[in-house]
Amino acid sequence: MDGTKTTADAYRGLIDTGGEDLILVLDFGSQTAQLIARRVRDQNVFCQLTRPDLSAERIRELNPKGLILSGGPASVYAPGAPQPDPGIFHLGLPILGICYGMNLVCRAEGSRVQPGKSREFGRTPCRVVGDDPLFAGLPKQIVVWMSHGDQVEQLTEHFSVLAETDTCPSAAVKQHDRPVYGLQFHPEVTHTEHGGTLLANFVKNVCGCKGTWKIQSLIDREVKGIRKRVGTDRVICGLSGGVDSSVTAALISQAIGEQLSCIFVDNGLLRKGEAEQVRREFSDHFKTDLHVVDARQRFLSELAGVTEPQQKRKIIGRVFIEVFRKEAESIRDAHFLAQGTLYPDVIESGANPDGPAATIKAHHNVGGLPDELGFELIEPLRELFKDEVRRMGKELGLPEKLVWRHPFPGPGLAVRCLGEVTEPRLETLREADAILIEELHRAGLYRDVQQAFAVLLPVQSVGVMGDDRTYEDTIAIRAVQTDDFMTADWYRFPYDVLERISTRIINSVRGVNRVVYDVSSKPPSTIEWE
Ligand code: XMP
Repeated sequence: MDGTKTTADAYRGLIDTGGEDLILVLDFGSQTAQLIARRVRDQNVFCQLTRPDLSAERIRELNPKGLILSGGPASVYAPGAPQPDPGIFHLGLPILGICYGMNLVCRAEGSRVQPGKSREFGRTPCRVVGDDPLFAGLPKQIVVWMSHGDQVEQLTEHFSVLAETDTCPSAAVKQHDRPVYGLQFHPEVTHTEHGGTLLANFVKNVCGCKGTWKIQSLIDREVKGIRKRVGTDRVICGLSGGVDSSVTAALISQAIGEQLSCIFVDNGLLRKGEAEQVRREFSDHFKTDLHVVDARQRFLSELAGVTEPQQKRKIIGRVFIEVFRKEAESIRDAHFLAQGTLYPDVIESGANPDGPAATIKAHHNVGGLPDELGFELIEPLRELFKDEVRRMGKELGLPEKLVWRHPFPGPGLAVRCLGEVTEPRLETLREADAILIEELHRAGLYRDVQQAFAVLLPVQSVGVMGDDRTYEDTIAIRAVQTDDFMTADWYRFPYDVLERISTRIINSVRGVNRVVYDVSSKPPSTIEWE
């Protein structure tokens, strides 16, 4: 799949499996490499990304049950295209090559890889031929997700074909005498039907993994790693009230207890009642030091008159760093800063020293912060997806309500208050948002959507209330369903709930006379409006 990412950091601190079966994903730069790892972890099998050229010798030491070679943006024959150590094909390990990885697998045995006649992208019907354990339990016709330019044109006699599409005669292949497979399509993305089963078949049927790994093993690994790294130093953790920073704090607190100090910056861009809620939840759950900084005025005055989204984000990022730094300076002996950065944050902000990955939005919580503050960074969730973090939070004993809270962006309501950010406008937005969330809970739908919020538009329109003409603000409602926040679909709201939300907002939020519902999916839209 096109697009690069991966940082050298992602490979640091490998690999303590605690005696569990291990699958390694050699990461050739695909945007979905981490998704492969996550799908394997979904099967309760420990899986870790590694650099693409990890030596065969090191792999033997790590003793995985199987290897997956990810996709990647390069062509296998391009100069400088990343290559695996050729020795990996002689380790006797099961190997699954996906897309670029398949081209590598086939080329290693002398097959010819060529630019396909046309680039194939998107959902493609695929026929499964033969009965291989890799396709056990799958129907003969499936829809797969293709995303490639090159494909294998001439297979050597070492391989047989397991699946084909109209334009790709070798959509899935296997070596005759060894458990070495290639898939031209991407089983890790949800658009591939039964993709999860396919990967489960590989790790269980082909590699023989038992599937006994638990999220608790990851907690144990992180706790051990944090203890070792931190020693007797102090760690500062920025709390936002969201699940990511709370799970980070809980992990660190489990590792080093009172050596943890948390800082919560009240930037005035929070939802209704949120600051008090964070304070309460924190003191109920953690027995460490909490610093609440009231920076509401500071943020508001810096944002005065600003309407451009990226500029808002940049200002908030800068002020956050300044406020945070000042507070952090008051905490003595701190050498580490913990952040709840998740994998999708890393990829979406293009925080990749090796490659482009377009900056879609300037996420202020990724990149920059450690250098500016002079701390060493601890990001224990950097390889995880949201639902894995939730599982971890539950395991760590965080309250259900907190674990399932919808994510809230660092720049807060500023990116949901389109146009200028002023206290009265924020107040309107807070009230509308609180009604939306309350109605979602009341209808039992809060957990059916992964994120829902109100947006205040810089658009006024005409209405009539009683006998009077009004000319007032518009609230947009956004509610999405998503697996990983990298793609999302708009939620099919029951009309009666939508009606209740709209009526309540218009009746009780002063200055609002119209509510609209956002029916855009991501891509091409994003979840947030700015
Ligand atoms: P988008 O709008 O990019 O959002 O589709 C994807 C997810 O990321 C959240 N988001 C952010 N989170 N800082 C954050 O911590 C940010 O600057 C930021 N921007 C977006 C968004 O709420 C959604 O869950």
